[in-house]
Amino acid sequence: MRSLSAKAICFIMMISLCCFSAGCDSRPDNVKTENNTEEDLVVVGFSQVGSESYWRNVNTESMKSVFTKENGYRLIFEDAQQKQTNQITAIRSFIQREVDYIVLAPVTETGWDTVLTEAKEAGIPVIIVDRKVDVSDDSLFTCWVGSDFELEGMLVCMWMSKFFDLKGIDPGDVHIADIQGTLGSSAQLGRTKGFDYMADLHGWDVVGYAEGEFTRSKGREAMSEILRKNDDVNVVYCENDSEALGAIEVLEAAGKKCGSDIAGGEVMIVCFDGISEEVRACVANGKISCIGECNPLHGPRVASIIRSLEAGDEPEKYQYVTEGIFSDTSEIEKVMISGQERTVTVIRQP
Ligand code: AHR
Repeated sequence: MRSLSAKAICFIMMISLCCFSAGCDSRPDNVKTENNTEEDLVVVGFSQVGSESYWRNVNTESMKSVFTKENGYRLIFEDAQQKQTNQITAIRSFIQREVDYIVLAPVTETGWDTVLTEAKEAGIPVIIVDRKVDVSDDSLFTCWVGSDFELEGMLVCMWMSKFFDLKGIDPGDVHIADIQGTLGSSAQLGRTKGFDYMADLHGWDVVGYAEGEFTRSKGREAMSEILRKNDDVNVVYCENDSEALGAIEVLEAAGKKCGSDIAGGEVMIVCFDGISEEVRACVANGKISCIGECNPLHGPRVASIIRSLEAGDEPEKYQYVTEGIFSDTSEIEKVMISGQERTVTVIRQP
């Protein structure tokens, strides 16, 4: 079992970011690497979801640090502020500006057929990152890179089920609520599906669902709503770490203690991402019990796709990122589901 301190994990992420931002082989082969003129540059239009979470900000930084002039790119960045209509407008403006590539991190899965057909007709390759699009014809995008959100959800639930078994907790005594992400986004659909499947499989008592939109403030509202209706809730499955931080604030204000000892009256919090220092500190001090990793460093992955397209190759259509599990305890070393095994990394106090 690996055991990394919060600082060590942060360091690894910093190194990755620095390495990628220093241009570790991010350049397309056909562009000059010094004194690039405007005409040499590969123009990339990137429509980002917004800045709803710490994860999203790290993701934006990953893209910006790779798509630099020094690396042979000109990046046109558009923040959609969580609105699909803004993303559609951005894509249309990329088409008008005749960019070389469109990169889309879609807020929700549906509603993309028309605008992606326009991009296809304009001959511009579209690379989807992070969440997926649900389109009638998958030739409307060139490829996708991101996380398997359903697997993330099942892995976290598997960790919980092993933990409850270990502590002799009856599944019927698990009163669990789901604070969901932006409804209709792949991250929400996948994590909720994984949760529903596992809750049903194990016979947990699902007390309710509330929408947290992947933000801390909505996480607070969702937690308050859940508590109002179900004061006996003893496990909260938060679909990202911003929501978890909001939920903890509300639970503590209500006099509840967050931790793994649900038999002793604590409320267990589990979530996804594992990016921010604040959240890792909550794992180290036991307020968050388990996190399903969601890796935001897509900049270098997209650059590698563009490089192979520039070289005339055909990159794999769906590129899944392998992600792990973080926890506050070394009691569970590995988690396995659907033939996928993950080692649990323990986050300790620095
Ligand atoms: O799509 C990935 C999700 O979106 C991350 O879990 C969340 O933090 C972000 O806002």
